Amino acid sequence: MLKLNRRIAAIKTSATMAADARATEMKLAGIDVVSLAAGEPDFDTPERIKEAARKALNAGQTKYTPVAGTLALKNAIKQKLKRDNQLDYEPGEIIASAGAKQAEANVIAALFDEGDEVIIPTPAWVSFAAMVSLAGAEPKFLPCSEESGFILEPDALRRAITPRTRGIMLNSPSNPTGAVYGEEQLSAIAKVLVDADLWVMSDDVYEHIVYDGLTAHLFHIEPRLKPRGIVFNSLSKTYAMTGWRIGFAAGPKEVIAAAGRLQSQNSGNPNSITQVAAIEALTGPQDELKTMLDAFRKRNALVVERIRRIPGFRLPNVPQGAFYVFPNVSGLLGTSHNGTKVTDGDSLAAYLLDEAHVSTVGGNDFGAPEHVRISYATSIENLNEAFDRIERAVAKLAK
Ligand SMILES: Cc1ncc(COP(=O)(O)O)c(C=O)c1O
Repeated sequence: MLKLNRRIAAIKTSATMAADARATEMKLAGIDVVSLAAGEPDFDTPERIKEAARKALNAGQTKYTPVAGTLALKNAIKQKLKRDNQLDYEPGEIIASAGAKQAEANVIAALFDEGDEVIIPTPAWVSFAAMVSLAGAEPKFLPCSEESGFILEPDALRRAITPRTRGIMLNSPSNPTGAVYGEEQLSAIAKVLVDADLWVMSDDVYEHIVYDGLTAHLFHIEPRLKPRGIVFNSLSKTYAMTGWRIGFAAGPKEVIAAAGRLQSQNSGNPNSITQVAAIEALTGPQDELKTMLDAFRKRNALVVERIRRIPGFRLPNVPQGAFYVFPNVSGLLGTSHNGTKVTDGDSLAAYLLDEAHVSTVGGNDFGAPEHVRISYATSIENLNEAFDRIERAVAKLAK
């Protein structure tokens, strides 16, 4: 009997993408769905970036480029890493890929083998574990408590490291919790990591969406981690460029070269027009960031206030970054309406979609089944409408 590859057969579609796809399907069927599921800014890509792409298209920059991106793009990334993170990288230590997602998948595949363990503090973005499993390694989930504000505690980290641990994936600001590591917290974690023999991966894709000011980078705070550290970043969230597919990794040149060999075989260079647009995004005036951040800040305040009013929803932390809230909904477990029973965050998300036509993502695949993830990357008007609907739907749930 013909079979699929064992590792591919074991993975499912990303929960966030599946939730968003369901909402899109319902919209196409004429149902008025408010989507709070998507992990993307609702803003349009800034005009200066689009203009750079138009010019590149007109100039015929439509051919293959070097696999890891043009030298001009790598230099722009180098400049960005210095300007925003005080980190020095040479072009040979940088690879541009089709989104941070591809950069992460390639680097993870290049670093880990069967038998290796990779620590993933949870709640965590749904794709980290899948990428580690696809590489044949084993994701080791390390739960971060609500009491700690979903911040990894150094002692817990120390205890989680085994002789098989080869890597850790950190993500601040966090998708899905919005938690942001402060400098003291990063130093405390760095103290543990500096004594351990493992790759330290830092996913910084939400770095500019922070409400209490920028924090120093882990590898700047503890430069001894940099020789075995990998930075991942993306233009998707910072410049509202999700659909353009451009992100990057920076790290030791052997690692970047290995990821480049993989990319050369499985996809090739990231889109040539996008690369030109990315240079403009990274090196041009950065004023749009503030406009978007101001909007996210207002939405954050509204969403926190609205969630606190919903019986059965509890917000363990006020998100200090990214554009997600991750309420605990265990107060609603065991309730039901019209035959639909709430047994976890996923079933509540399904209920809210059916009953209120509001799409959210259940917490299971983030490693936190009693939660739902709500994205507030949408207008205040949409948010108010969505929360009015959620309140009405939740009020119908009874024991
Ligand atoms: C934490 C995190 N990392 C990486 C990505 C991937 O971003 P992209 O591939 O669009 O650059 C996302 C997207 O949602 C994310 O939330």
